Parts: sequence; C-alpha cells; structure tokens
Amino acid sequence: MQLIVDGKPYTVDVEDDMPLLWVLRDELGIKGVKYGCGVAACGACTVHIDGVAVRSCQTTMSDVEGPVTTIEGLGQPDALHAVQEAWVEQQVAQCGYCQSGQIMQAASLLSEISNPSDADIDEAMAGNLCRCGTYPRIRAAVKTAAAKLQGA
Ligand code: FES
Ligand code: FES
Repeated sequence: MQLIVDGKPYTVDVEDDMPLLWVLRDELGIKGVKYGCGVAACGACTVHIDGVAVRSCQTTMSDVEGPVTTIEGLGQPDALHAVQEAWVEQQVAQCGYCQSGQIMQAASLLSEISNPSDADIDEAMAGNLCRCGTYPRIRAAVKTAAAKLQGA
C-alpha cells in the first residue's frame, strides 16, 4: 500500500482497516501525531488529507485518498508554518500533548476561512480538547496566524 506523507512517498505492508494514526506512528515513526482517545473525540490525532483536517485514529488506510500532512510536514524544512509561528508567539502550549492536533485543526480552518470570527474558531476547534485549558490562547493564536497569512 502506498501513501504520501509530508511530501515523501512510502510503501507500507498493513491491512486496509488499520487506522492511519498507527501507520504514521508505528510504521513510519512519525510521533508528532498523538493518540488521545482513539474514538474521534479529542482531536489529538488530527492530520490533514489533501489539506483537510481528519481524525487519524478513525481514518482507516482504505480511507486515505490523498497526500497526508502531519505536524512534522506542515511547515517548510527551514521555516515554521504561520500557524506554528503564531503558536510560539502566543505561547499557547502547556503540557503540549494536544497541541499538534490543535495546530493542524487551526491550519485547516484558516485554509477555509481566512479571517475567522470567534464563533468560527470556537466551532472549528470545538472537537479539539485541551486538558490544560489553553483555549483562550488558542483563539488568540488563530487570530495571529490569520493576520500573518493575510500579510498584516
Ligand atoms: S485520538 Fe483521535 S480524536 Fe482522540
Ligand atoms: S496543552 Fe496540555 S492538553 Fe493541551
């Protein structure tokens, strides 16, 4: 089975129903994507397929029909993505466990809505849980990232 992850082609010998999360972590060694709940309820495992946020714990290999991007491939090799820069500037992370999923979800949101309102952010990020309660800084960072992406 072939797939493209973070711009690189891979061939993996796995079952069709294996969750993408475990292919990424256990077969390819991409540990930036996290396991939280396994039932699409926390967002820790969020990656992009064709630029759209998906829960990799509930996405089987047979569902993967496009290039996969993880937190490790979101930016350029020598530069962070604007969302990552905003996260650093706003010092969003506490323990950090949920944050790769938060960033991937935010990047997907901003690819759809360039200047999201508070309601847009709350709706898009509602499924990404943070036990450390970093939600106010997440919202601030999404706005910072939006401004960066618009060249403000
Ligand atoms: S681990 Fe996938 S949503 Fe929680
Ligand atoms: S920063 Fe700790 S769970 Fe979100």
